[in-house]
Amino acid sequence: MSDLLSERTCVVTGAANGIGRAIAERFASDGARVLAFDRDQPAPFDSSCIRVHLGSVENESDLVAALDAAVEWGGRLDVMVNNAGIQIERTIADTTTEQFDQLVAVNLRGVFIGLREAAARMLQTGGGAIVNVGSVLGVTGDPLLGAYSATKGGVINLTRSAAVTYGKRGIRVNAVCPGAVATPLTTRTWDLAPDPARARREMERLYPMGRIVEASEVASAAAFLASDMASAVTGALLMVDCGLTAANPEYALIGELT
Ligand code: NAI
Repeated sequence: MSDLLSERTCVVTGAANGIGRAIAERFASDGARVLAFDRDQPAPFDSSCIRVHLGSVENESDLVAALDAAVEWGGRLDVMVNNAGIQIERTIADTTTEQFDQLVAVNLRGVFIGLREAAARMLQTGGGAIVNVGSVLGVTGDPLLGAYSATKGGVINLTRSAAVTYGKRGIRVNAVCPGAVATPLTTRTWDLAPDPARARREMERLYPMGRIVEASEVASAAAFLASDMASAVTGALLMVDCGLTAANPEYALIGELT
């Protein structure tokens, strides 16, 4: 427990599972009121500071209703976390136009609407903080995640433009960019391999820290960006990736040096 986000009213999208759930729980333990928005009913939360609101980021009216519910609850909106996302593992050649549209609808259009509507409400009360969940795949390419990476690249540049747009009006906009986190989004790809444990080890070997990221570590980074500790930080990409994007890909061939 801390008072890092004491008295803040926050909305977290995609909060039923994985990273979004960890963010909602972390914010609540830092003193915030959290509206946990998801298309699926989450398992019960332990904290009484978390209220569930069901809806899809694909529906503008659902997002607007969630943000209005948060304002009604807390009197204002202080923090918006645009986290909900989906992943489709396909080569560019195998990705249908419908799949591409689906990825854009959730990962990019949903973030755009969430950001625009949150900013409109924050402007009425003097400001706030918006945290978008990007990915290392917003700054790197992957043969099986071409469409997904395009949406994450979009999230990153939307973050920068929004930071510039709202900077003088008290709204900070940043992105956390996780490397692989062991949530269903990632474990599903291991489960497709003949030996899932080996698939995980092989992935971890590519990370300079020798491991992948915990959802709670992404939540800590989001809490920092949402809080006054980051009062001069806007338009930033905070890589939460155990060093993945710092590494030259050839590094994986070298192995241990020490
Ligand atoms: P997850 O699959 O564990 O959880 C995603 C949550 O979003 C689920 O609760 C799901 O119901 C919800 N959701 C999906 N579509 C929705 C919609 N249309 N409306 C409302 N809620 C919706 O995924 P995870 O891993 O927690 O991912 C969260 C974010 O982190 C995503 O934006 C993802 O792209 C990003 N990310 C994840 C990484 C990973 O390795 N797991 C790495 C980098 C980024």
